[in-house]
Amino acid sequence: MPARHFLTLLDFAPQELARLLERATQLKRLHGERQDPRVLTGRTLAMVFEKASTRTRVSFEAGMAQLGGSTMFLSPRDTQLDRGEPVEDMARAMSRMVDVIVIRANSHAMIERFAGHSHAPVINALSDLHHPCQLLADVQTYIEYRGDIRGKTAAWIGDGNNVCNSWIHAAQQFDFHLRVASPAGYGPNSDILACCPGRVAVMTDPQAAARGADIVVTDTWASMGQEDEKSERLKAFSGFQVDRSLMRHANPDALFMHCLPAYRGHEVAAEVIDGPQSVVWDEAENRLHAQKALLEYLLR
Ligand code: CP
Ligand code: NVA
Repeated sequence: MPARHFLTLLDFAPQELARLLERATQLKRLHGERQDPRVLTGRTLAMVFEKASTRTRVSFEAGMAQLGGSTMFLSPRDTQLDRGEPVEDMARAMSRMVDVIVIRANSHAMIERFAGHSHAPVINALSDLHHPCQLLADVQTYIEYRGDIRGKTAAWIGDGNNVCNSWIHAAQQFDFHLRVASPAGYGPNSDILACCPGRVAVMTDPQAAARGADIVVTDTWASMGQEDEKSERLKAFSGFQVDRSLMRHANPDALFMHCLPAYRGHEVAAEVIDGPQSVVWDEAENRLHAQKALLEYLLR
C-alpha cells in the first residue's frame, strides 16, 4: 500500500482531522499525567529542514521521544541534497531506513517530489505554500477554549502567506468562515482560494475583516526567504498591525492567534499578543500534542 502523506490539510478527510484533534487533546491530558503511551517504540523519524525552526523541531523531537521513538535532525549541510543529490533518490533511500519523514522546505514542490518517491509517510513541516501542522494546533486550541469551531468566523490580518493558505484549507475542512485582509498585491494564492470556493472573503480593510470575528490571527510580514523584501513590506503593511483598537472590532470574546515567531510592533502590538485574548502559548504547546496524534495515526 502506498504511504499516506500529510502535505496539506486537504490530504485528510474532515472526519479524520476531527478525530486527530480529539486524540491530540487526549494525549495532552495523558502527558499532563505523565502517562504518554509508548506506541512508537523502535520507530524512527527523520527531519529534513532547509529552514530555521524553534517550535516545529522541538515539538517533533520531544513528541517522538514521548511516544517511545527516536529522531534524527538533518540540516542542509548534513545530507547530500545541497551537493545535488536528486530529491527522488534521497526519498527512495531514506524511506527504506526510517518510518516517517518530516520536511521543512523552501519549495512545496520539493516536498511533493520527495513524497512521490517515499515508502514512508511524509509530513510537511512548512513550505513556501503551506503549514498544515500549525493549523492542527490552532484549531485544537480554539476548540479547547471555545468548543465547536463550525460556523465561526476567523479574520486573517496581513500577509497572504503559507500559514494563511493553511487557514484557508482549515476553513474548508473544519467548516468555518474566513476573512483575509491584506494590502493589494499581498493577498492569498489564487489557486489555493480556488480549492475552497465560497469559503473565504478576501479584502483590503482590516477593520471590515475583524468585525464580529471569533478569531483574529496574523503572522510575520516577511516570511523566511523574504528577508530582502523586509523594508518594502514594512511600508506596504502599515495599517495592518493587530492592535487593541483593531481587536475592538472583533467579538468581545475573540481569541488572538499567531503561529510565532512574532515581531511585536510590526504585525502585532505587544498589548495584544501579551494581553488577555492571546492564546499563542497554547497554540505553541499544542504543536506537540497535535503532532503526536499525527505521528501515531500515520504510523499505526
Ligand atoms: N510556528 C512555527 O512553525 O514555528 P517555528 O518556525 O519556530 O518552527
Ligand atoms: N510565515 C512564516 C511562518 C513561520 C513559522 C514563515 O514562513 O517564515
